[in-house]
Amino acid sequence: MKKDLLTLRDITRDELEQIFELAAKLKRERNTSDFKPLAGKSIGLIFAKSSTRTRVSFEVGVSELGGNPLYLDQSKMQVGRGETVADTANVLSRYLHGIVIRTFSHAGVEELARVATIPVINALTDDFHPCQLLADMLTIKEYSGKVDGSIGIAFYGDGRSNMANSLILAAKLTGMQLAIASPERPNLELAGGASNVRWEKDPEAAAKDVDYFYTDVWVSMGCEEDRERRMQIFRPYQINQKIFSLGKSNAKFLHCLPAHRGEEVSADVMDSKASIVFDEAENRLHVQKAVMALLMGK
Ligand code: CP
Ligand code: NVA
Repeated sequence: MKKDLLTLRDITRDELEQIFELAAKLKRERNTSDFKPLAGKSIGLIFAKSSTRTRVSFEVGVSELGGNPLYLDQSKMQVGRGETVADTANVLSRYLHGIVIRTFSHAGVEELARVATIPVINALTDDFHPCQLLADMLTIKEYSGKVDGSIGIAFYGDGRSNMANSLILAAKLTGMQLAIASPERPNLELAGGASNVRWEKDPEAAAKDVDYFYTDVWVSMGCEEDRERRMQIFRPYQINQKIFSLGKSNAKFLHCLPAHRGEEVSADVMDSKASIVFDEAENRLHVQKAVMALLMGK
């Protein structure tokens, strides 16, 4: 049976370890590997929102696995002119061997995956960004040697965003101690009662025992109309040297990128030695290759 990756709820802890193991191998052997599980396969990459990392890492990833990546601008597809998601899913299933999609509605992606007979990978919706979290967790594993309850991580900013939601699911999956520093209550229900996820209104309190500080833009794609209010309410939640110094002495800085220096993160933290954001961005490629090989390479 085909398997999708729409949120981190779709993978078990064992499968996460399998993804880490394959991603690490593909990373080590990138220049010498003859592993081509997507040979003869075409993967559609549907984008309704802007992207740098996701688009490039998936296109390169499909090619490196021997497959044919097809970039599809959703605004130029007939789904933008009233063709149903179900009809689109049926048609694409006749041509392609997998779909990677970045769009607005998470429910729309769920419907696409329900109807499609080929695997679907969520490359970001308004609600979730699982591929980003897989890369983040691989990066944490590289730096800390493990991803479990011994890791303290704090997310600052929009606690109701796709990144915050995905971090909650990552904490639920792995046991990482997650604090969400945000003025508005995050969707804690996603944690399913897990005691390792907490909401902190006080940005200084959230920094206690933190190994990894994490933030994201204050205005996510699709939220532009709310820009003014967001710039006001998230201002106290900037990750800067003062906040950073309250974490553990060897704490690291993570950001899914793109970053806005002077908004969610100060330039000195973003560009400091503790910032591992480009290792994190690189890991998108390796981890997504692992996911595609496992879901689409059969
Ligand atoms: N982090 C991330 O998904 O980046 P892009 O929006 O550039 O793809
Ligand atoms: N929360 C951001 C993430 C970008 C990778 C957005 O949705 O725009």
